Amino acid sequence: MCGIVGYTGGKQAKSILFEGLRRLEYRGYDSAGICVVSPDGELDCVRAVGNLDNLEKVLEGFDMPGTLGIGHTRWATHGAPTESNAHPHLDCSGDIAIVHNGIIENFTRLRHELSERGHTFKSDTDSETLAHLIEEHYRGDLAEALRKGLSQVEGSFAVVAACRKNPGEIVGARRNSPLVVGIAPGEYYVASAVPAFLSRTRTVLFLDDDEILSIGSEGLKIILMDGSEVQRDSAEVGWDIDSAEKGGYEDFMLKEIFEQKKAVEDTLADKFNSRGEIEMEGLDLSGEEARNLRRIIVVACGTSYHAGILAKFLLEKWGCLPVEIEIASEFHFRDLAVAKGDLVIAISQSGETADTIASVKAARKLGARVTSIVNVVGSQMGRDSDDVIYTHAGPEIGVAATKTFTSQMAVMYPLAMSIGLLRGTVSSEICDSVMKELRSIPSKMENVLDFDGTVREVAGKFQNCPDFLYLGRSFGYPIAMEGALKLKEISYIHAEGYPAGEMKHGPIALLDDGVPVVAIATRDSVYDKMINNIEEVKARKAPVVAVTTVGDTRIADICEAVFEVPETMEVLYPLLTVIPLQLLAYHIAKFKGCNVDQPRNLAKTVTVE
Ligand code: AGP
Repeated sequence: MCGIVGYTGGKQAKSILFEGLRRLEYRGYDSAGICVVSPDGELDCVRAVGNLDNLEKVLEGFDMPGTLGIGHTRWATHGAPTESNAHPHLDCSGDIAIVHNGIIENFTRLRHELSERGHTFKSDTDSETLAHLIEEHYRGDLAEALRKGLSQVEGSFAVVAACRKNPGEIVGARRNSPLVVGIAPGEYYVASAVPAFLSRTRTVLFLDDDEILSIGSEGLKIILMDGSEVQRDSAEVGWDIDSAEKGGYEDFMLKEIFEQKKAVEDTLADKFNSRGEIEMEGLDLSGEEARNLRRIIVVACGTSYHAGILAKFLLEKWGCLPVEIEIASEFHFRDLAVAKGDLVIAISQSGETADTIASVKAARKLGARVTSIVNVVGSQMGRDSDDVIYTHAGPEIGVAATKTFTSQMAVMYPLAMSIGLLRGTVSSEICDSVMKELRSIPSKMENVLDFDGTVREVAGKFQNCPDFLYLGRSFGYPIAMEGALKLKEISYIHAEGYPAGEMKHGPIALLDDGVPVVAIATRDSVYDKMINNIEEVKARKAPVVAVTTVGDTRIADICEAVFEVPETMEVLYPLLTVIPLQLLAYHIAKFKGCNVDQPRNLAKTVTVE
């Protein structure tokens, strides 16, 4: 969590830093601040509690000339969201300013030792320790001071620092937290993520863990923790700035819901060759390796975990081997019985989620092969894995995952099918028919988006209900889970996602006429069972909103509202049925006046365990 930015170049830094922070605000919005090195060598710092609107107001009355600076938008870990805990943090002398993302795990001891040596702390944060450590080691070389300071640090960090005694230099480093450099003629940007500078350059340079970056009059230099220098090539990113703008929509979340057709199309584009055969870009698994697999373990958190449930079902169906699905934040803390012969599939939009990264590392250490499915190019998880398969959903700014979820699910079909083909457990006829129908899904998604107005009406009716139950069976089950997560995270309404068959084992006790049940009941192999469940719900007087297949009057007759999706294959319904549930959560949250792009207490990426 937390977004950090840095800039050095010929332009005024203040507005560039603020614009960068705006684009990273999804990473945290408890407080924000910027610091600019003035032409007469002073550090001008401004900080404000709350989101960037508050900082903007303070900045209005503040002239901050200078062409080098750093900025931060915070998701609080250590220390309440107060102004004194907002970044940038300064050392005792006020010469050095730092911004930090991550957690300094040994900060209590470091802080104690630094205090004993005379340092005075002005905040409750772990981050401030870094400013004091740099101060202790500073002998005129800022990068060297950072390198020495970081050698005492345990934990994760992306840190950027400026010093008024080195007015033309900006330094930074990372370990298990992202930091990327944007390069334009005569200018450098440093940030937690590419969208911070995407309007200015697409030329990027990804730092690796434990590398120190120094950008000064001689250009850019990278040194390792042992002091030696490394060379690194830059790369071009494919994202364009429109994908990081609202583009006329009221919120990023709504825009991203409506972008799903394109996101899925783009995601599928590099999973097939020109003859239409599956060719998974990024997966380098031979037939022999696939046949020798003992089992597959899918690990992920949150929405990505729900895509993982679908992955399990598809891999079992077509790969015919044992598949386990694991919540990453539980997985890596156990004594794992993982070994060579296991394939771990890690799913993550950001590629930064600390628990999923830790799971990837733990599994690889035990000899498993790791394939990650990631949206953000250059992210840590990709680099920690044996293979990386990209979703190409473009930047997702809304904190609630929408288009990246459908893109993750879309990847699972060719992935599970290709593993099945390599193992000889699925026929090419089945593969062809599923893949043909998969390609028709993006246009069917567009049909579903057409009834946004209907969903809004239903949302209006149920906006004041304090509890919701979401039910689905088989391929509807992960969608029930995801629908409930969407509702709770953006509208703050309590919602449970449940496998429909489990309802009778407990949750049915919650039902009465004030608890709406959202049922995924498309025409598939569990349709009759879902109708039974709906009848059981109706018998308890709970109102039912069902996601059904177009033309299904049987369900329409017994439910308060239905959202019809076009007919497709049973396995592919999840790509369609989740859309009305995303819209339902969105409209309920809007009726309640919630900020859907920045839900309270959440951050887009959870980089702490
Ligand atoms: C989804 O709406 C949430 N914001 C959250 O559950 C998210 O899916 C989870 O934190 C995992 O993130 P990742 O996909 O970037 O790893």
